[in-house]
Amino acid sequence: MKREWDLLHTPGPTPVPPSVERAMSQPMIGHRGQKCKDLMLDLAPRLKPVFGTSGEVLVVTGSGTSALEAAVVNTTNPGDEVIVVVAGAFGDRFAQICETYELNVHRIDVEWGRAVDVEQVETFLKTYPDSKAVFLTHSETSTGVMHPIEAIAERVREISNALVIADGVSSMGGAKVDMDGSGIDIVVSGSQKAMMLPPGLAFVAVSERAWEVIDQNERPRFYLDLRVYKKQLANGQTPFTPALSLLFGLDEVLRLMEEEGFENVFERHQLMKDMTRAACRALNLPLLVSDEDASSTVTSIRPQTFDAEKLRKIANEEFGLILAGGQKHMKGEIFRIGHMGYVRPANVFQYISILEVILKRLGHEFEPGAGTAAAQEAYLEGTRGE
Ligand SMILES: Cc1ncc(COP(=O)(O)O)c(C=O)c1O
Repeated sequence: MKREWDLLHTPGPTPVPPSVERAMSQPMIGHRGQKCKDLMLDLAPRLKPVFGTSGEVLVVTGSGTSALEAAVVNTTNPGDEVIVVVAGAFGDRFAQICETYELNVHRIDVEWGRAVDVEQVETFLKTYPDSKAVFLTHSETSTGVMHPIEAIAERVREISNALVIADGVSSMGGAKVDMDGSGIDIVVSGSQKAMMLPPGLAFVAVSERAWEVIDQNERPRFYLDLRVYKKQLANGQTPFTPALSLLFGLDEVLRLMEEEGFENVFERHQLMKDMTRAACRALNLPLLVSDEDASSTVTSIRPQTFDAEKLRKIANEEFGLILAGGQKHMKGEIFRIGHMGYVRPANVFQYISILEVILKRLGHEFEPGAGTAAAQEAYLEGTRGE
C-alpha cells in the first residue's frame, strides 16, 4: 500500500501543496473553449516574473527534457557549432541532445561538484568564435551546483552573438534569475521541481533575440515548433491538447507564489539551503559543493564514514524520508536532499533531526543535537529583522 506520510525530499518530483491538488481535481473543460482561453491568457503574463522576463513563456505538455529539446531544435541546424557546459548529468543530457541533432558540440567539461567559471566560457568562445549558442545548466541537479548563468550571459553578450540557453529545470521558481537584465536568451524549466506541480509541464521562456533566430530557422520540427506555440498563445490557445489539470494547478501555484511574493519565495530557498548546509557542517557531513557554488534547491553530501545508500534505505524504510542518491559515476558516493517548492524551514528541521537519528545508528561521530542547533542558528540569522 502506498504510504501517504512520506516526506519527499528528492530534487524532483517534489511535494504538491494541498490547494494545488484540489485545483487539479476540477472537472475537465474543452481545450478550445472560452474557459481554457481565459485561463491561458491569465497564466501567460503571470509566469514572467518566475523567469525574470517580459518575453513570452511558453507552456509545453511534456517533461523538462522536452523543453531542452525544444530549445535545441528551434535554434540550431545540423553542423552548427555550439558550446555546452557539462558539469553533471543534466549538462551531459543537453550535450547529448545537441549531438543527436547533429550539432558540432564543444563540451566544456567541468569537474562534478564545481561551477564553470566565466573565463572558461570566454576562452571557449574565443577558440570557437563561430559558435551559435552556449548551452548550460542553472542548477545542476545531479551535484547541487548553481552555475553563474547571469554573469556568463553578460560576458557572452560582450564578446559574441551566440545565444545563451539555460536549463532552469531545478531552479525556476526557487532561484531568482534576471533573464532580461543579464541577456539570457532562453530558459527552460519543468513543473515537478520548484514549481510545485506533478511532472508533465515544460516551460520555455524566450527573448526577442532568440525569436529572431527561431523565426528564421528552417529546421523541420512539429510537436516542439515554438513558432506555433507563440502564435497560438496570442489567442489563448495551445497547438495540441494541453495537460489541463496541470494548468488548473499552475493557476494555484502562481497564486501561492504571488501571495508569498517572488522575492520571499527565492529568499526562503536561500534560507533552507543555508540551514541545510550549516546542519551538515555541524554533523561532520562533507558537502560536495562549496558555499559559493551551492544551489539553493538541492544539497549533495559525500559521506566518508558510512554508506550513502544505507542511510537512504533507513531514511526511507523507517521514517518515510525519501532522499536521492548519486547519478552516473556518483552513484553510491553521494546522497542529495531536495529543498525546493512546497518545502519550508519547518521541513528542514524535520529532516535534519531524522538524519541525526540515522547517523547515530550508523555510528557516525557528531555532537548530539548539533545539526538541529546549527539549522536553528542559520534560521535565526537568516530571518533577523523580520
Ligand atoms: C536540471 C535538470 N534538467 C533536466 C531535467 C530533466 O527533466 P525531466 O526528467 O522532467 O525530463 C532534470 C530532471 O531532473 C533536471 O534536474
